Amino acid sequence: MGLSRVAVLISGSGTNLQALIDATRSGAVPAEIALVVSNRAQAYGLERAKRAGITSRVLLPRDFEGREAFDAAIDAVLREHDIEYVCLAGYMRVLTADFVHRWHDRLLNIHPSLLPAFRGLDVHERVLEAGMPVSGCTVHFVRPEVDDGPIILQGVVPVLPEDTPQRLQARVLEVEHRCYPRALDFLVRGRLRVEGERVELEGERPGERLLLHPRLAGFLLPSDRERR
Ligand code: GRF
Repeated sequence: MGLSRVAVLISGSGTNLQALIDATRSGAVPAEIALVVSNRAQAYGLERAKRAGITSRVLLPRDFEGREAFDAAIDAVLREHDIEYVCLAGYMRVLTADFVHRWHDRLLNIHPSLLPAFRGLDVHERVLEAGMPVSGCTVHFVRPEVDDGPIILQGVVPVLPEDTPQRLQARVLEVEHRCYPRALDFLVRGRLRVEGERVELEGERPGERLLLHPRLAGFLLPSDRERR
């Protein structure tokens, strides 16, 4: 069986792209990152693609007449490269409903909060303002509504008293880099089904869809023991 051909859409630094490249290159995830598409020429993720010898394409919104035409061009590039699955990794543009429908249940996103809480931008600022003791990230199938769709897995991190949005973001990114490869692994191994907009994972073992940041695990285990 050949490896699933996966495209990653980026706009920025591409640390999640890097995690996906590393996990597929090591053979841990049976897929090939075959294409990187960016809507920004300066995205550092393009450098990562180049270093890894992965084909990349830059499509600039200003070269197209509107969102429909832009997303149609992305769709055409994906098909040109025989892409089977698409991962959004810090892709900062809202996709048209038409594009999302074409890639139904073959299009993943990662968001730096425990969805459905804190959709949208400035997540870490808002988590701190709300006084949340935990935060995390979510990998989900994409639906036309922003940061909406069946949840594949979540990573959980503690919010610490001394946190700034930047420190919290860095901690959340650590779990993002473990969550996204795992979610892609489930997908390419054909273990995911969406039933009534809930994800079912074939042969699910307890905890497979939940990843804990080591700091959180360190806090929880002793106090759990005390209570028993
Ligand atoms: C991540 O926090 C991701 O959850 C969000 O955008 C950020 C992208 O970071 N969608 P990177 O480009 O992967 O480093």
